[in-house]
Amino acid sequence: MAHRIGYLVGSLSHDSINRVLATALVRVAPPSLELTEISIRDLPLYNRDDELTPAAAVTTFKEAIEGSDGLLLVSPEYNRSIPGPLKNAIDWGSRPWGHNSFARLPTGIIGASTGAIGTAVMQSSMRSVLSFLNAPQLNAPEAYITFTPEVFGADGSISDAGTEEFLTHYMSEYAAFVERVLSVTAPGHVGDRD
Ligand code: FNR
Repeated sequence: MAHRIGYLVGSLSHDSINRVLATALVRVAPPSLELTEISIRDLPLYNRDDELTPAAAVTTFKEAIEGSDGLLLVSPEYNRSIPGPLKNAIDWGSRPWGHNSFARLPTGIIGASTGAIGTAVMQSSMRSVLSFLNAPQLNAPEAYITFTPEVFGADGSISDAGTEEFLTHYMSEYAAFVERVLSVTAPGHVGDRD
């Protein structure tokens, strides 16, 4: 049976290069992964006053994370860090205390940038956040993508053979990582959050 992998796109832009990257990842993913976007678009700004009576979008978001076998974070880097909308989504998912939706969920971090270092600093910040949230992370390969429109089609096609090979390898390593994590945490990981 395929593993259900949610993915978050850390950009709200309709022209997001990270959504294009996510579409490419869906195309090259092995059949053992079934990828679905979990939208962060409708989440309100996090406010702890609303934790116990959250907006419907928050409940939907947390249920989608908890119903996933793994999570991919596909995000830009903003000012050398995690974009606000994505950090906001993670903050909602981590709360209320004792109901952290990310605990024990196998995660992969990847991102595209127009700059040369391909979201490396965002990814480093994200690793700290996910460590605190007790989410296992794929450590290698790392994937820092400098986006060029000549290589990535809006439909997820990849016109450069080396890039396609690398992203295919990334997704197959992520799939193997998900298998490894679930083999030691299943069946209790869903609904058994910190
Ligand atoms: C950027 N960009 C950027 N790029 C980068 O490599 N490192 C950075 O720190 C930043 N900082 C940054 C801040 C803000 C507010 C914006 C709007 C942009 C450029 C960024 O890589 C580029 O805009 C991408 O297209 C953003 O990804 P999406 O939104 O197209 O997925």
